[in-house]
Amino acid sequence: MKLSEQIKILDFVERGDERGNLVVIEGEYQDIPFDIKRVFYIYGSDATIVRGQHANRRTKFVLINVAGQSKVKVDNGFETQIISLDKPRMGLYLDTMVWKDMYDFSPDSILLVLCSEHYDGTEYIRDYDAYIKEVRKEHTNE
Ligand code: TYD
Repeated sequence: MKLSEQIKILDFVERGDERGNLVVIEGEYQDIPFDIKRVFYIYGSDATIVRGQHANRRTKFVLINVAGQSKVKVDNGFETQIISLDKPRMGLYLDTMVWKDMYDFSPDSILLVLCSEHYDGTEYIRDYDAYIKEVRKEHTNE
């Protein structure tokens, strides 16, 4: 599968006025291509830290830097792409089985993550070599 079909940049509507900005994310598939079951956020990481470094068998994600900036390197075993998350109105959708590294966090970075599933550590693939073997095998069987 093409990486461009497994990731998507989402552009949320910003309802700003003279009082400031407001971004709305409606659930039930209105603004997010899945039903949101879990939310977490990452802050206090810095430019020396690399987070993520895993793929998920079942969970789809939307990543939003609601403050500050970070970068995400996505990899499907065949192609990679680096996306800069630098606007609170920008989301990055990641399908299942996409390997992701989050890094280059600005000191003020707050990375909000919306998830399609509840947390289950057993659906994570944390060994890159095992990940590569699995996605390349899947590809051969297509
Ligand atoms: P981890 O997956 O390493 O975070 P990241 O993807 O940002 O690198 O998670 C760090 C710890 O938090 C790990 O012990 C698992 C736990 N955790 C939960 O209990 N629930 C969650 O929803 C998440 C994302 C992590």
